[in-house]
Amino acid sequence: PRCFALVPAAGIGERSGAGMPKQYVEIAGRPMLAHTLAALAAVPRLVQTLVVLSPADDRFESTVLAALPGYAGWVARVGGASRAESVLGGLAELRRRGAADEDWVLVHDAARCLLRPEWVDALLDACLPDAVGGLLAQPIADTLKAGDAAGRVTATIDRRDKWAAQTPQMFRLGLVERALRQMGAAATDEASAVEALGLAPRLVRASMANFKVTWPEDFALAAKLLAG
Ligand code: CTP
Ligand code: MG
Repeated sequence: PRCFALVPAAGIGERSGAGMPKQYVEIAGRPMLAHTLAALAAVPRLVQTLVVLSPADDRFESTVLAALPGYAGWVARVGGASRAESVLGGLAELRRRGAADEDWVLVHDAARCLLRPEWVDALLDACLPDAVGGLLAQPIADTLKAGDAAGRVTATIDRRDKWAAQTPQMFRLGLVERALRQMGAAATDEASAVEALGLAPRLVRASMANFKVTWPEDFALAAKLLAG
C-alpha cells in the first residue's frame, strides 16, 4: 500500500479574524498553506499530496504555488461546507487518481503549518504496522476545567488520560471513507469517526508546536516559530 497526504484547505478561517481564509495569510514570508505543503513534501514515504480547496478559490496558484517553485502536488477544488465534507471530497478525488482501499491517507489540516517532517515519520513508524491507524497528539499538561456560559468553573476534569488531538491522522482510505460517511458532517476529525466504528486509533506524541493556527494571536506565535 502507498501513503498519500490529504490537506483540507477549504475553510473560511472565521475565528482568525483575518478577513480572508487563514491558509492564505502570509507567515514568515509565505502563505501558511505553502509552509504546510512544503513540510509534507519533505517526507519521502508520502508518494503524493492532494490539497482540497474551495470550488470558489482563486488564490492558490498566484500565492501558494508561486511560493513553491517546482511543486508537483495535486490540487482539487472539491471542498465542502464542513471539514468532514472537504475530506470526503478529497478521498473521492484520490480514488479517481488511482488510490485504493488499502492505501494509507494522512489527513493534515492546512492550518497546522508548523508541521515537521520528523513528526510525520514518527506517525508512519507507529501506524504502518498497526491494524487501525492513528494520529499525532499531545498529552494535556494543564489542569482541565469545564465552564458555563457565564465563565465560571463547573467542574475540574482529570487530565491524566487526556490528549489534545492533532493532525496528521492516518487511516486506510477504505476505512476512513466509510467512517466519515457514517458520521457525516459532525465529525471534527477522522479519528472520532473511526472510533464510532468501535476501533481504537493509536496516539502518537508530537509537540505542542504542532498547534492549529486558529485565533488572531496565533499568527505571531507561528511566525516566531517558523522564523526561528
Ligand atoms: N476546512 C476545510 N473545509 C471546511 C472547513 C475547514 O477544508 N469546510 C479545513 C480548514 O481550511 C483547515 C482545517 O480544515 O485547514 C481545520 O479547520 P479549522 O481550523 O476549523 O479552519 P476553518 O474552518 O477555516 O476556521 P474557522 O473554524 O475559524 O472558520
Ligand atoms: Mg472550522
